[in-house]
Amino acid sequence: MRPYMTMAIALSISASVSAAEPPFSGPEDVAFAGTLWKALQENRLIGADRMRSMPYQTPPPHGHFVEATDGRISVDGRDGIVIVKQNFGKTKEETRQQIADNPDEFLTSITVMFKRENGYDADNKNWFWVKYHPDGSLFKNPKGMQLAGRVAKGSDKACIACHKSAPGNDYVYIHDRYAGQD
Ligand code: HEC
Repeated sequence: MRPYMTMAIALSISASVSAAEPPFSGPEDVAFAGTLWKALQENRLIGADRMRSMPYQTPPPHGHFVEATDGRISVDGRDGIVIVKQNFGKTKEETRQQIADNPDEFLTSITVMFKRENGYDADNKNWFWVKYHPDGSLFKNPKGMQLAGRVAKGSDKACIACHKSAPGNDYVYIHDRYAGQD
């Protein structure tokens, strides 16, 4: 290979690496989180008019009590599995009945997994991860990165790292109904 060709290849590799988006928190993932939020509202999976179920108690890191719902919705014209978790408990002293009677008063966050197209994150079953405040804004990690996208791929903390250990190798803890799907 001629030297100038080698240099051109080396240059194009470094350009593509520096232009690559981080695995989460980039503009595309943040925009997708906004579109997903609207789809969750339209499907009554979040918000004052959402369908409700009885909260159940969980260990950390999610709420003290949570409600989980799942099904298929369309986001950006694409049909996919969604799992929505409402996390409750400000002092962790609340009873299940108090939360069932006034869920919105105790809601601290909404954590969502949405199954994206194959290739979005083939290493991790193509899940899109997001953590919303109750008003739809995004949580940030201590570095100021917004928690939307492949959170936090390559790190030993946060959504992907912990959900990797879920039974059934589907990254879902509460059941294995989606096991075997990419
Ligand atoms: C330290 C481990 C851990 C981390 C970090 C974590 N989760 Fe979870 N997650 C769990 C466990 C355990 C459950 C099942 C118990 C429950 O419902 O709270 C769960 C349940 C869920 C569920 C319901 C589906 C399922 O897997 O059972 C969703 C949705 C979810 N988590 C989203 C997220 C998102 C989004 C993040 C990152 C912002 C995240 N989780 C970070 C441990 C974790």
